[in-house]
Amino acid sequence: MEILRSLDAMREWRASLAPSQRVGFAPTMGNLHAGHIELINVIKQQSDVVVASIFVNPMQFGGNEDLDAYPRTLEADLAKLEASGTAAVFTPTTTDIYPDGVSQHTAVDVPGLTDVLCGASRPGHFRGVTTVVSKLLGIVRPHVAAFGAKDLQQVLVIKKMVRDLSINTEIEVVPTVRESDGLAMSSRNGYLSHDERALAPLFSRTLEETAKRVAESGSDVKTVIAEGKAILTEAGFVVDYLEARHTHDLSEASSLNQETAIFGAAFLGTTRLIDNRIV
Ligand code: PAF
Repeated sequence: MEILRSLDAMREWRASLAPSQRVGFAPTMGNLHAGHIELINVIKQQSDVVVASIFVNPMQFGGNEDLDAYPRTLEADLAKLEASGTAAVFTPTTTDIYPDGVSQHTAVDVPGLTDVLCGASRPGHFRGVTTVVSKLLGIVRPHVAAFGAKDLQQVLVIKKMVRDLSINTEIEVVPTVRESDGLAMSSRNGYLSHDERALAPLFSRTLEETAKRVAESGSDVKTVIAEGKAILTEAGFVVDYLEARHTHDLSEASSLNQETAIFGAAFLGTTRLIDNRIV
């Protein structure tokens, strides 16, 4: 496996590939778990060569968020990628990605979809995601790139960006990988204390149950959502949002005439969990 530690190294490696080789890409922020390896496995079936990137993107963290604490586990990550059959890993420096610093960097903004849910709670987050992903797609030039369905809003935002900016990359959405108790895999799960970890699966279970009940009750979405929030709050979660929204445009779903998902974000102690369930 090639480890490409600079922009020049990445570009040189990319230029060495034959035009006929189909390139698959899995962008990550490292601290890899089975959900990331699933991105690689899915993309491997659709490409001749798989590239991953590891870059903890400062632009997508708010000033009060966990950029410094975010787990950096490069050696373990490289071993997992090697074992998964990844051909090359791009590990750029912050200067490679933001030569004039984050605040002086050209930004990519996707309107509309970023106004709600995590976009409302984490101002600037999606601007950071779309800026870095557009750069990575421009550097790696993959035919197909994989993103996890756990971050469903991120997937929708990236799909719109790719369409709007005419980026020639297919976006593959990979189903959420869960622990045996249902908790969606996330690099942030490692922040949970022993007691919080024991409670955390209630979050995914509540989203699942809420989705089932919304499907059954049809129009009574508001009541079911309010009950879901109450269950989480009573158990000790601080709910950021629990909402039923249409998956194509993230508009509020008061009826179920289009595909709908229950989107949730909640704090358990200082750890922010997010998840979603299609109704
Ligand atoms: O989902 C993530 O890990 C990140 O948001 C991404 C897509 C790698 C961009 O930094």
